[in-house]
Amino acid sequence: MPSSGPIGIFDSGIGGMTVAQAIRKALPNERFIYFGDTAHLPYGDKSPESIRHYAARITQYLMDQKCKAIVIACNTASAHAFKTVCDVAGPHVPVINVIDPVAQYVAGKFKKQNIGVIGTKGTIASRVYVNRIEKLNKSLKVISNATPLLASMIEEGFYNNKISQTIINSYLSKPNFKDIDALILACTHYPLIRKEVDLFYKKKIEIIDNGEVAASALKAALGEQDLLNNRKTKTKDIFVVSDYTEAFELSTKIFFGEKVVLKTARIWK
Ligand code: DGL
Repeated sequence: MPSSGPIGIFDSGIGGMTVAQAIRKALPNERFIYFGDTAHLPYGDKSPESIRHYAARITQYLMDQKCKAIVIACNTASAHAFKTVCDVAGPHVPVINVIDPVAQYVAGKFKKQNIGVIGTKGTIASRVYVNRIEKLNKSLKVISNATPLLASMIEEGFYNNKISQTIINSYLSKPNFKDIDALILACTHYPLIRKEVDLFYKKKIEIIDNGEVAASALKAALGEQDLLNNRKTKTKDIFVVSDYTEAFELSTKIFFGEKVVLKTARIWK
């Protein structure tokens, strides 16, 4: 696989563009192909079997585009389909999910502390954060709560306002979160409410953004396999969705910070 190839990034929709943005910041020489499975979103409520089926087909599509690495930007897909993606990508293509790098970061940094996690119903029900972090560091206790309203709330543009702050406060006030020392934002959409989460905790605890941690893990993995692109390419990043609507295209601005032109790939025909 040549180091000049693109990085394949996928998500259930356009929320994973927060991860793509973190990757662009950490790896400015790289270009990527972003795939949003808008025909099937949200993944947060789907069965693990369906998610594995979607992830396998999307990975095949990205491999056909000659991607040199795959990033599973979606937490729900990372929870259920990491092995499936690795199998389809094959042994020579690094696959980064957004959960393991965070689990390693937390396990290395905290000791005898309580770690909170918020995410979709699928991510939280999988208990993947609890299992992976507590296995890596037995002194930690991981407490997780599903916060299913947040993703759709953000997609509808409700963030940094009174309504969003009320909903966020209500989720974060759950009694089992009373003594947490750090909070993992385990959903593609949550970097957009980071300020409000900080406000709730008055900046007293560390808020962990999966996208940032996954982007540094990707940088390390590409470096280890001699796959880093040392020169900036002129080729532009490509954004593809499985089902186009103008509304999706307009919402990309809130997740990627700039206007994006979406192409359609009908991989589900
Ligand atoms: N991308 C999903 C995640 O990070 C959130 C949106 C969805 O449910 O599809 O889990």
